[in-house]
Amino acid sequence: MNVLLLGAGAREHALAWKLSASPLCANLYIAPGNAGTSDHGTNVAVDPNDFSAVKDLVVDKNIKLVVCGPEEPLVRGIKDYFSSDDRLKTVYFIGPSREAARLEGSKTYAKAFMEEYGIPTAAYRRFTVDEVSEAIDYVGNCATPVVLKADGLAAGKGVLILDDIEEAKGEVRAILEGKFGEAGSKVVVEAFLDGIEFSVFVLTDGKSYRILPTAKDYKRIGEGDTGPNTGGMGSISHPPFVDADLMRKVEQRIIQPTLKGIAARKLDYRGFIFFGLIVVEGEPHLIEYNCRLGDPETQSVLTRLNNDFMQLMLETAEGELGAAVVDMDDRQTATVVLVSGGYPGKYEKGKAISGIDTVRDSQVFHAGTKRREDGQIVTDGGRVLSLTSYGETFQEALRKCYANAEKIAFEGANYRSDIGFDL
Ligand SMILES: Nc1ncnc2c1ncn2[C@@H]1O[C@H](COP(=O)(O)OP(=O)(O)OP(=O)(O)O)[C@@H](O)[C@H]1O
Ligand SMILES: [Mg+2]
Repeated sequence: MNVLLLGAGAREHALAWKLSASPLCANLYIAPGNAGTSDHGTNVAVDPNDFSAVKDLVVDKNIKLVVCGPEEPLVRGIKDYFSSDDRLKTVYFIGPSREAARLEGSKTYAKAFMEEYGIPTAAYRRFTVDEVSEAIDYVGNCATPVVLKADGLAAGKGVLILDDIEEAKGEVRAILEGKFGEAGSKVVVEAFLDGIEFSVFVLTDGKSYRILPTAKDYKRIGEGDTGPNTGGMGSISHPPFVDADLMRKVEQRIIQPTLKGIAARKLDYRGFIFFGLIVVEGEPHLIEYNCRLGDPETQSVLTRLNNDFMQLMLETAEGELGAAVVDMDDRQTATVVLVSGGYPGKYEKGKAISGIDTVRDSQVFHAGTKRREDGQIVTDGGRVLSLTSYGETFQEALRKCYANAEKIAFEGANYRSDIGFDL
């Protein structure tokens, strides 16, 4: 069958690779894709947030399955657009409805959901634009560090962790007064949890669920987890501190109650659930839900998945996931992200990339890349590409990533050489 993948990052390159590897995938289209996804299918210059353009593409190419990589179209309701359109409602769609995607798109919705279904998370209070002075008073009495979260999607910038109460009072006001636009019309003020983070990925058809490989990612630009946040600088799978006992707690206390809540609220959820977790003294707490896979976790996670990925997608779409068996590779994986000089601040684009064809023993997943008319691949974003490798240990996998990172060159190229440093 013909398949459409929405998105343009290294996550989508990894998805394109897995989808196209299946004999069940006849033609793969990626909208808009990047210079790497075109090795696995046909890139089409369509914006995933332009639903009617997506519809035209689905009709034109006789698409039977759509897989949505990024969150924004989901939070804007692309699944509902499909379900309510006569021509599109029979097309299989991987990704939750607008209401279900609020688990990611609204921090206040997610926290209320966690509370209702007894899911362990940081203690919190929520405030609206009409409660600025109450919010400031409340923050004034919080222990530090204090965590402030704008309610809506704010391009990864809507969470502030502050050590200074006066600064936090100013920020909570600024958020409610529109610092992040509409995203900040409500705010969550929550307690800081001191622990180690990891991510669990689940595929669900709304009734059954399957746990995919677990990962840990590295978000800060600087070595030793310092400096500003990025989209993600690296990941490993499987983080060794996540043992069977911890996973049992995650499954019983967090995953199962979440699925129970999804069923109880009759949410239309066929797709991925990303559980952002933190373990405090051996006990897992849920920091956040995302309604899609993460980047750069996906690169490490999907390389450890030996299943026919199309079959998993079809079982999810058809509500038959209960029959699926996840076949995880016993090897470990690591991913290292190469970024443009200056990222996550200002950076230049259009730098020629060399050495990709000399990579051995690692997989290259493109993110911000573009093929020039003369065929040269050039940088076209902050995160440029990622390298993913297998190893008996994650350290061995990392050594392969770093050996290959040395061979890839573009002006200003930067990467973190300490992924996994804390394990
Ligand atoms: N209560 C908390 N205690 C400690 N750290 C926290 C807490 N809440 C959030 N964080 C930190 O802030 C990061 C971002 O928070 P959160 O995941 O809620 O925001 P987000 O903008 O949705 O992130 P993402 O872009 O990963 O989806 C977390 O990964 C974690 O490192
Ligand atoms: Mg999030």
